[in-house]
Amino acid sequence: MSNKMDSWRSQAKEFEPVLRTVGLFARLTFKTISFPQISERLNIDRIKVLDAACGSGVITFEAREICNESFDFVATDFSDAYIQTVNEKINKEDIKNVKAEVMDATDMSSIPSDTFDYIFCQFGVMFFSEPKKFFTEAARVLKPGGMLIVSTWRHNDLAKVTKAAADLTVGSSSSTPPPKKDLLNFTDPDVLVRIATEVGLKDAISQELTPGHKCNVGEPKPLIDFFYDNPVVQKLISGMDESSKLKYKDNAMDLIQVMLNEQGEVELTMIANLLTAIKP
Ligand SMILES: C[S@@+](CC[C@H](N)C(=O)[O-])C[C@H]1O[C@@H](n2cnc3c(N)ncnc32)[C@H](O)[C@@H]1O
Repeated sequence: MSNKMDSWRSQAKEFEPVLRTVGLFARLTFKTISFPQISERLNIDRIKVLDAACGSGVITFEAREICNESFDFVATDFSDAYIQTVNEKINKEDIKNVKAEVMDATDMSSIPSDTFDYIFCQFGVMFFSEPKKFFTEAARVLKPGGMLIVSTWRHNDLAKVTKAAADLTVGSSSSTPPPKKDLLNFTDPDVLVRIATEVGLKDAISQELTPGHKCNVGEPKPLIDFFYDNPVVQKLISGMDESSKLKYKDNAMDLIQVMLNEQGEVELTMIANLLTAIKP
């Protein structure tokens, strides 16, 4: 397993508050698109759902809670460690209608065209090196009439800290290469709509998704550790020399300290873009 993939897994169990928030977004997504009731329009016996970049399987397992046995789920991620986590749950609970596979979301060549009724990709596309390829592939493997559902961050305080700390660090050392801005892509809802339309999907709309609450993450220390070990941050600082990396961590800590509330906890505001589009 490559370090890149492994670093995603190390996040999985260590930061429950953020994971809980991700579950909250999954449930809000289903409510917003009326899933699974919306599937009544399909008029078929079995409904096939792909969860691309599934991580620990939040979308799949939250969806299973509200879907009947006529749904089949395929959960894919390029991290075999995450797929192992999903498989452990499948085996432990003897789940019959979920399969988990290691797969790069930008290369689904092992999946025949016109396979899925729904493709979900929650908080994944911003990490793909070639995000448009995912949209092209999704448009191919969706059945005609099938729906693509993609969420990205419109606003995420952690992402803001990531960028602000990088900007501060770059300002502090002229030898530090500029941060890779692509990590914060897809905050603009219009970009999602444009790409979905370009790959031939119709009725593309992007709406704001906010659980109307702040994610309260308790003590700052675990947050800072989580923050620094996060693969997004590691990718961002990968081009920096060692002293700049330390400076980056200090800058991030200072910014997180500023976010402490009176109870000594950090509240993170998180707002998502939810894109839906249909294969003609
Ligand atoms: C922020 S996590 C989101 C996980 C999950 N969808 C959720 O909502 O909790 C991003 C995920 O994207 C996966 N990932 C990144 N690049 C990928 C790619 N090219 N193909 C498949 N998965 C990828 C990572 O392994 C990680 O599990």
